Amino acid sequence: MDLGLKGKVAIVTGTGRKGALGETIGVGLAREGVNVACVDIVKEGAEEIAKGIAENTGVKTIAIKVDQSDPQQVKDAVVKINAELGPVDILVNNAALMGPFGRIEKMELKDWQAMIKVNLDGCYYWIREVWNTMAEKNYGRIINISSVAGVMGGFGQVNYSASKAGVIAIAKTAALEGARKGITANAVTLGVVATGQSAETNEASERLKMRIAMRKFGDPEDVANMVAFLASEKAGYVTGQDIHVMGGIDLFTY
Ligand SMILES: NC(=O)c1ccc[n+]([C@@H]2O[C@H](COP(=O)([O-])OP(=O)(O)OC[C@H]3O[C@@H](n4cnc5c(N)ncnc54)[C@H](O)[C@@H]3O)[C@@H](O)[C@H]2O)c1
Repeated sequence: MDLGLKGKVAIVTGTGRKGALGETIGVGLAREGVNVACVDIVKEGAEEIAKGIAENTGVKTIAIKVDQSDPQQVKDAVVKINAELGPVDILVNNAALMGPFGRIEKMELKDWQAMIKVNLDGCYYWIREVWNTMAEKNYGRIINISSVAGVMGGFGQVNYSASKAGVIAIAKTAALEGARKGITANAVTLGVVATGQSAETNEASERLKMRIAMRKFGDPEDVANMVAFLASEKAGYVTGQDIHVMGGIDLFTY
């Protein structure tokens, strides 16, 4: 299926670690002909991934170091991307902190605040900065990556689960406000995806797998495929949804 994405411009946040979701999402969009801005707080990682995507797919890419907890850095990055790649059509809010965690009564306040600043505030800052450009073009696709912890809670993860519930709410609100401006916004909510550093690597991993109806962890490609579809014209009537890509970790299984 041709998704009709050739020549569009995407920002994919959190493209700083090889083998992680940001890279696979970026590659998936680039395979459809999308020019990709790789943004991450890890400069060398973003540069390496942007270079690899351009060499392997022939699209244009740029890499920018951004700490997305700082609204000015996000603003400056979007100005640069609009100037160098063209007006942004697609925003994938994928960057996140995934720790430190802690039980409610023990969590350090600084760990609560840091997580909310990056995962929730950062997601809002990106949307805020791309909004007018998308509205002017009457085309925009916003995809917020969330987690099962955001819909089911996460033991010892109050900061993370609150931030991930928040990005679903932001997507729904953006969907409402963008509905007559050609802008769709959705959340893609994940269970455990094998990225080399997620819960698939910890000591409870086999126990965890038994909690998933399909008895397997997700592959980054599973996520990238959904993101590419939601980014396309084909998904133009899908908005405000929280789409679960999690193999049934949210189903009753035994
Ligand atoms: N891997 C999983 O099993 C899983 C499960 C559920 C949800 N998710 C979500 O998927 C997304 C990607 O996860 P991943 O497994 O690839 O993790 P990852 O840690 O490899 O990727 C997150 C990226 O965000 C970047 N980042 C962190 N702080 C930043 C900041 N202040 N400014 C800019 N960039 C910053 C990191 O440098 C990193 O490259 C996250 O939103 C995560 O919550 C992942």
